[in-house]
Amino acid sequence: MSSPQHVAALALALFAAAPVAAEPEAAFPLGLDAEEVRIPADNPPSADKVALGRALFFDPRLSRDDTIACATCHRPALAFTDGQPVSTGIGGQRGGRSAPTVINRVFATAQFWDGRAPSLEEQAKGPIVNPIEMGMPDHATLERKLNAIEGYRTWFQRVFASDVTIDGVARAIASFERSVLSGNSALDRHYDGVEGALSPAAERGLKLFKGDANCSKCHAGFNFTDEKYHNLGVGMDRPDADTGRQQVTGRVEDRGRFKTPTLREVAATAPYMHDGSLATLEAVIDFYDKGGIANPQLDKDMKKLNLSARQKADLLAFLRALSGEGWQHLGPPDSLPR
Ligand code: HEC
Ligand code: HEC
Repeated sequence: MSSPQHVAALALALFAAAPVAAEPEAAFPLGLDAEEVRIPADNPPSADKVALGRALFFDPRLSRDDTIACATCHRPALAFTDGQPVSTGIGGQRGGRSAPTVINRVFATAQFWDGRAPSLEEQAKGPIVNPIEMGMPDHATLERKLNAIEGYRTWFQRVFASDVTIDGVARAIASFERSVLSGNSALDRHYDGVEGALSPAAERGLKLFKGDANCSKCHAGFNFTDEKYHNLGVGMDRPDADTGRQQVTGRVEDRGRFKTPTLREVAATAPYMHDGSLATLEAVIDFYDKGGIANPQLDKDMKKLNLSARQKADLLAFLRALSGEGWQHLGPPDSLPR
């Protein structure tokens, strides 16, 4: 999927965008595995393509009435989420799911809580024409609208040697998203051997996370996700329960399963879960302590934990130690194409 050349190209693109990194390799924050990036062979990154994608990501003209950008629901200030239980799109319409972060999506292929988009490129095409998100009637209308903006026409010519096309829009946005990273957290520095990087509470929390609390069973690896689907019972006690992964596969055993989210930056991405039903990390920990919500498809790894108050505080300290760097400089560009 990703050749060494692609990884090097992404590192160079990150290098161009990051204000601090001294050399391209340093553009990958500490703790992230550059070998694990997923870049389609037909969409190699370049600094110019990433910059174009950034402009598109922040541009409300991608919506029907110029009010909603990708960044409306994936706000840099909230680690690329929107702080709402469920998102509000064009004309104040509400969707049924909470906006996940776009941070560290370069390490995955399947996108959305139910994994229905096979790549970031495919994902990006969805919200633009979703009637309750950005509300464009169709992709051809978006192409006409952007081709009428001289700055975009010339930028697309430079990057793709073509006029604005929906495929180009999706490729540029996906390339930008692949540059939105988080690493160099207190935990990464701890693993890197920095004495005192983790507080004693966070260190006890780390042991619980990997041990008795069994969190790392699903929140596995350096990005804290197995990229698989699990049923924790979230929302399954409601009559109109979101069936999640079952909508993609049609299989009963996938009912109520959702993709394991990364836990990097989790302190900044409240509220939690696919339906935003848990307002705080304390509530999430209590939810796991009780073993989730009983339902026929509940994951076998969901068990009552019976944590003490101190153990809960330790887990919380650990989760807060997963806040890092690599995305804070990626606010809106200074100006949008005219
Ligand atoms: C109205 C709010 C809204 C807008 C606008 C929006 N998103 Fe999202 N985004 C969401 C929600 C809600 C989800 C989860 C939907 C689901 O899983 O079914 C999501 C999911 C995603 C994901 C998947 C992340 C993951 O962990 O699987 C990516 C990537 C993403 N959006 C990028 C974008 C891009 C790029 C745009 C602009 C083209 C955009 N979003 C516009 C609300 C929004
Ligand atoms: C069986 C797999 C599994 C285990 C075990 C597990 N998680 Fe999760 N975690 C998930 C999935 C799947 C979700 C999303 C569920 C949903 O939205 O329905 C999630 C969501 C979360 C979230 C919310 C993140 C967000 O962005 O909304 C946090 C925080 C979290 N888990 C922490 C933990 C902690 C702490 C533990 C251990 C006590 C743990 N998890 C154990 C699979 C798991």
